[in-house]
Amino acid sequence: MIRLDKYLTEMSVGSRSSVKKLIRSGRVLVDGKEVTRPETKVDENISQIVVDGREISYNKYEYYMLNKPQGYVSATTDKEHKTVVDIIETSEKKDLFPVGRLDIDTEGLLLITNNGELAHKLLSPKKHVKKRYYVEVSGILNETDRRKVKEGLDIGEEKLTLPADMSDIKTDMERGVSSCILTIHEGKFHQVKRMMKKLGKTVTYLKRVSMGALLLDEDLKCGEYRRLTDEEVDKLLK
Ligand code: URA
Repeated sequence: MIRLDKYLTEMSVGSRSSVKKLIRSGRVLVDGKEVTRPETKVDENISQIVVDGREISYNKYEYYMLNKPQGYVSATTDKEHKTVVDIIETSEKKDLFPVGRLDIDTEGLLLITNNGELAHKLLSPKKHVKKRYYVEVSGILNETDRRKVKEGLDIGEEKLTLPADMSDIKTDMERGVSSCILTIHEGKFHQVKRMMKKLGKTVTYLKRVSMGALLLDEDLKCGEYRRLTDEEVDKLLK
């Protein structure tokens, strides 16, 4: 059971003070009856809450897709740097955290949620969730590099990296730089940078473009975010 004003604030109907006013003015029905006391307890799993004729159902979880900018750490708090969670503006930050880590200088897709179970599932090493990156390096990528990545690389871990796919290789011989799309199925610390180092290249720019079923929305500029659609959430939960 939670207070009616808390329920409505959590569901982003408004700030705590504005929903209190709303309730007092008689615009909120609980199970068909007008309720004017903000402190009234409701059962978030059973009660039907209607505001101005619109049903407000209770979702415990929030899901955001962020196009992470450089300069932010993938954490909930940090003494030195701004965190990715600081970017999300909600009336109630319901214990949001990033699912996995992108380095401070990496951009791109980061899922931010308060659903620990989903995070656990996506991050479990056993699940081999696919992650796709756009990578720029100094050095020339070639067919041999593609094959080595497919076979697995020794990056100083107990085992070789799992077979990964390198595609869309583009090279600029004059400047001595390349880019590619790299798809990996695990998430070791600094994995992409360490794989490229093993191939004798240095990552100069890194951006994640997908994670499992979730694709970075191309309309999101760097630093922008949006809530996931119901369809995107369903795909992730499957
Ligand atoms: N691999 C890296 O090296 N860095 C990231 O941020 C993500 C994957």
